[in-house]
Amino acid sequence: MSVHVIADSRDKLSALRLMLPMQLEPNFYMLSDIKAATAPDADAVVVAVDIRVVDNIAVLKEVMYGMSHAAKRLFLIDGKSHIHSAQAYALGATRVLHNPVSPSVLIAQLSDQVVMNWSGSSAAAEATRSAALASQRLSTAFTSVARGFKVDVGGMEEAATAIADSVMDHGLSNWLATVRRHHEGTYQHCLLVAGVAVDFGVSLGVPQADIRRLAVAATFHDIGKACIPLEVLDKPGKLDPEERAMIETHSSRGYDVLKGTPGISDEVLSGVRHHHEFLDGSGYPDGISGNSIPDLVRLLTISDIFGALIEDRRYKAPMPREDAYEILLKMRGKLEAPLVAAFRQVALGQ
Ligand SMILES: [Fe+2]
Ligand SMILES: [Fe+2]
Repeated sequence: MSVHVIADSRDKLSALRLMLPMQLEPNFYMLSDIKAATAPDADAVVVAVDIRVVDNIAVLKEVMYGMSHAAKRLFLIDGKSHIHSAQAYALGATRVLHNPVSPSVLIAQLSDQVVMNWSGSSAAAEATRSAALASQRLSTAFTSVARGFKVDVGGMEEAATAIADSVMDHGLSNWLATVRRHHEGTYQHCLLVAGVAVDFGVSLGVPQADIRRLAVAATFHDIGKACIPLEVLDKPGKLDPEERAMIETHSSRGYDVLKGTPGISDEVLSGVRHHHEFLDGSGYPDGISGNSIPDLVRLLTISDIFGALIEDRRYKAPMPREDAYEILLKMRGKLEAPLVAAFRQVALGQ
């Protein structure tokens, strides 16, 4: 494989030169010198550029456009802000790593040959494109929320359609594998849950229009997490009671930022607000129970829990789908039993 390394200072290039072994065939460029059009194709790009600097963004935009063929585009960024992560994804990152990044983490990210070999099939390539588009729309929506702007409903629908089409055309397993290999954190979670929810809706024979609504609700169900600091959101290990309480505000905050947005449906709003409610009333934010929880929300809640269990996080290995389904089966009284039974073919199927 070959890797292009792009930095905005000689010091950063030198540090990366020490970190990357020659087997990866790294080529080192200063941002100010690189012409993407003349750089040879590479399998991966590592970007160590301060994206808080407006001039850097303009140059990077052009450079990254020319490098969109690279299967992996890693951005190493300072600070843990949603806005900078989202900015990196908007510039074409497939994964964002927060400085300081250790050599072993960087090499592990670059050495995953599976992606290179596996993305040869057309189903995988199509899923990769759909996931990239949906992730880009997610990052735009998260940035809007973090900045206090209105969310673009057209962009939300476009993301949901891309996911629904990919899952319906090429199957859930193909979607889950693609998302887990290319995406991380909250975006990975949202993309996984959306794929699971679409497959669940299709398996139940839900009408197309409702599948689209379910896909939008699932893709954006955690949009309120844009209001929660990344230190809390991505904290490995146990949260203290205060942090847990802060995270639990995300569903009502998501609802608050989306309500009143022109074009957003009541079903989507309800999915965003109520996806952590349980049939026995033990959920949040409103503690509603039984029939007060709409059908779409019940599908979303099951998909959300399953998606969270099978996601691939840096500090936690993904749980096998069979084990995740066992956990759903044990949540008696909280989830609708016939729906959990019907979910079996989604959880254990192709
Ligand atoms: Fe949530
Ligand atoms: Fe979630």
